[in-house]
Amino acid sequence: MIRKCLFPVAGYGTRFLPATKSMPKEMLPIVNKPLVQYGVEEAVEAGLENITFVTGRGKRSIADHFDISYELEHQIAGTAKEEYLTGIRSIIDKVNFSFTRQHEMKGLGHAILTGEPLIGDEAFGVVLADDLCIGGEYDGVMAQMVKLFKQFRCSIVAIQEVPEDEVHKYGVIAGESISDDIFRVTNMVEKPKKEDAPSNLAIIGRYILTPDIFEKIRETPPGANGEVQITDAILRQAQEGCVLAYKFKGRRFDCGSVDGFVEATNYCYENIYKAK
Ligand code: G1P
Repeated sequence: MIRKCLFPVAGYGTRFLPATKSMPKEMLPIVNKPLVQYGVEEAVEAGLENITFVTGRGKRSIADHFDISYELEHQIAGTAKEEYLTGIRSIIDKVNFSFTRQHEMKGLGHAILTGEPLIGDEAFGVVLADDLCIGGEYDGVMAQMVKLFKQFRCSIVAIQEVPEDEVHKYGVIAGESISDDIFRVTNMVEKPKKEDAPSNLAIIGRYILTPDIFEKIRETPPGANGEVQITDAILRQAQEGCVLAYKFKGRRFDCGSVDGFVEATNYCYENIYKAK
């Protein structure tokens, strides 16, 4: 039912310079797996087996990562090392990858609109790979959202409570509570000042969007930071129809920051890598 997932990966990753000077930030490893692969695995777990990357200059290694490496695979075939590639091979076998380029950085809304020709007229997921989400004992966050979509059939944003002095880093929602973890969105503000924030419920980088979002993005003028913000376009959907905000189960690490990246690394080392 939801088959496609869009990954905006054109950003520069300036906070990780010089590491990201010639290497995409999405390819930085959390232990032994690039950040973007965690996001792709989460999408695939949710049944989203058509993955679209909205890339930019200098991001070719992402496409190479999700392709066969004949020479390497030939070299290690039949050795103990072969098992290191089984995870990525099973993704490559299952998933259809497509790529398009965002030529200029004009915001997340613009990046998502760039993917329109590859998404078409159907609801789709969006994963911001910087937000590493681990379901742990629960399903992955995208799988939780797909389940909710089957029930409500409208756009859904993932949210999490954040400390008040961090709201300025996020899109923040106001909503009427439908249940403990589901809100009907009544307002959304991108990167508000603490005093202007409608709540401390911050949008985390997981979305399910209905395809009318593309029209809404086209109607959306540049907002915060002079960029076309997806938050503003989703607010239009909320005002004209219904958008849900879902407080997901599981953990989230802000791998767009060095602190979050290190925290994710330690967590994954202890709980995934060493636990194997
Ligand atoms: C983007 C969105 C923002 C959201 C955040 C989650 O911001 O615009 O609404 O809260 O991702 O990580 P960015 O982090 O790209 O500035």
